[in-house]
Amino acid sequence: MIAAYSATSQARVNAALELLFKAPLPELARLYEAMHYSVMIGGKRVRPLLAYAACEALGGKAEQANGAACALELIHAYSLVHDDLPAMDDDDLRRGQPTTHKKFDEACAILAGDGLQSLAFSALLDPRLSDLSADIRLQQVTALAHAAGPAGMVGGQAIDLGSVGLKLDQKALEQMHRHKTGALIEVSVKLGALASGRAEKDELKSLQTYAQAIGLAFQVQDDILDVESDTETLGKRQGADIARDKPTYPALLGLDAAKAYALELRDQALHALRPFDAAAEPLRDLARYIVDRRH
Ligand code: IPE
Ligand code: IPE
Ligand code: MG
Ligand code: MG
Ligand code: MG
Repeated sequence: MIAAYSATSQARVNAALELLFKAPLPELARLYEAMHYSVMIGGKRVRPLLAYAACEALGGKAEQANGAACALELIHAYSLVHDDLPAMDDDDLRRGQPTTHKKFDEACAILAGDGLQSLAFSALLDPRLSDLSADIRLQQVTALAHAAGPAGMVGGQAIDLGSVGLKLDQKALEQMHRHKTGALIEVSVKLGALASGRAEKDELKSLQTYAQAIGLAFQVQDDILDVESDTETLGKRQGADIARDKPTYPALLGLDAAKAYALELRDQALHALRPFDAAAEPLRDLARYIVDRRH
């Protein structure tokens, strides 16, 4: 089920994303190539999938969430390009390929990340991608800007970099993860729900509870995979957190307790979806997938 849903959704978002990388000047070909590379070399597309699934859970058509799906993946790709830079995690492998600064150069990678962030907001407002009211678009832009920015993902990255070598307690670690990864996952569900045009307050609240749980679970699982997966499967260097003395859940709790925590978060997420009918099945599958995934 999740495999078929993923394949359809990935094809949908990839087709929409391909519309966005046409260089307006020959001089910009390399910059656009670097942006295209950073987005299109791979990736599970979890955030777009969540947006589509949330839209459908409320009775919307997945296509209504196309702008949101592209915007989320563009912000995510920019965050990875910058996360891999020498000044941050200094990684040379991403999605099984050289990182953007290795394939191009550092300045180009910084600019590609900057460009992707702006393109994300253009995508959210692009009438070719989705046809939504100005009111819904305004709510989406506001939510995405907040989640991606210094009070969300960027803030989480700042906490992450400021915590290297420190021993965070569980509360501080959770705060870091909720910002650096949870914020974008949470807003993925929200943008999809808003795109349905049918989001009621109490439904949004239940979806938020779901999204907060899987957002944290996603980073807990990412930390677990850094310990027990391998570079080939991950497409990024296994053991990078340990090598850099990053604060992670396995480092704090031990591997078994980290795994138990991921499962507990999955169950919290599933519990939050109890008021929803069968249309929320893809969201339920995604909660299971996030803690079962091997890469
Ligand atoms: C990796 O994200 C970075 C984190 C936020 C943990 P993903 O695991 O979604 O990476 P891709 O997009 O599939 O490569
Ligand atoms: C990255 O977290 C989170 C963001 C890019 C916002 P990580 O540094 O753990 O991601 P990976 O492991 O490099 O994919
Ligand atoms: Mg990082
Ligand atoms: Mg990293
Ligand atoms: Mg990681």
